[in-house]
Amino acid sequence: MPHSHEPQTGGSAAQRMFGAQAPVYATSQVHVHDASLDALRRLAGPGPYGWALDLGTGAGFTAFAMAECARQVVATDPTLPMLNQTRRLGRERQLANLRLCQNFAEALPFAAASLDLVSCRVACHHFADLPKALDEVARVLKPGAPLVVADSVAPEADAVANWMNDVELRRDYSHGRNRKVSEWRELLEERGLSIRGTENPRIHLEFNDWVARTATPAGEVTTLRRDFLNASPAVREAFQIQPTGDDIHFSWPCLAFRAVKT
Ligand SMILES: C[S@@+](CC[C@H](N)C(=O)[O-])C[C@H]1O[C@@H](n2cnc3c(N)ncnc32)[C@H](O)[C@@H]1O
Repeated sequence: MPHSHEPQTGGSAAQRMFGAQAPVYATSQVHVHDASLDALRRLAGPGPYGWALDLGTGAGFTAFAMAECARQVVATDPTLPMLNQTRRLGRERQLANLRLCQNFAEALPFAAASLDLVSCRVACHHFADLPKALDEVARVLKPGAPLVVADSVAPEADAVANWMNDVELRRDYSHGRNRKVSEWRELLEERGLSIRGTENPRIHLEFNDWVARTATPAGEVTTLRRDFLNASPAVREAFQIQPTGDDIHFSWPCLAFRAVKT
């Protein structure tokens, strides 16, 4: 089924950012477990599935969850240091059904109609070309097989959506774009992926931890903090921005869905 490739250290923005920060992501509590991971477990259901593929696996936490309902899970990511974290944590958890593959979501080294489940959590907004990645997902899924995704989404109001994507990009130079729910629906429909269930968990974040995870330069942290504290009422409400001591608590809206290839 999957075949191995020569490991690439790679030079894309995502590979540079996540390569440097991989050990931090391996212990990040919001990645280890949160409401979006619970939503994906529910949306995947009990299975049992045969071959599952996790895209943008990072340190592997979604792949580990999918390993509970699939015979084999292939955890994939373009960033080798992330896959090394996945391997280490998978061994610690004594997972016998976990495999690794280094690839971008936009070019999946798997045969057409060969997979029973594809999952992806808080990674799609990093993909350089999400439409192409979804073309690939539609190609590799067997007919009737589900794609389960959880990702941060932008509100429909342009001003609020633009604020969100602007702060995300200044915090993390590898940020792509948080899509609106309406954009997600269109992208899925265009590819014959029919939504069969959705959940809307929030991704709860703390500003100091959020900028530390991406090693955002100190000058940018100062302007970002100022922008959070001076945000418009519409932005403050959309993202539940709450100054707390010397920190700022906030949350991103998240769309979690199950879509089936029809
Ligand atoms: C926030 S981490 C993912 C977290 C992980 N899915 C989890 O549930 O804990 C984002 C990951 O997306 C990966 N990534 C970035 N661009 C990608 C692309 N084009 N294709 C696949 N993965 C990509 C990064 O290397 C990084 O490991």
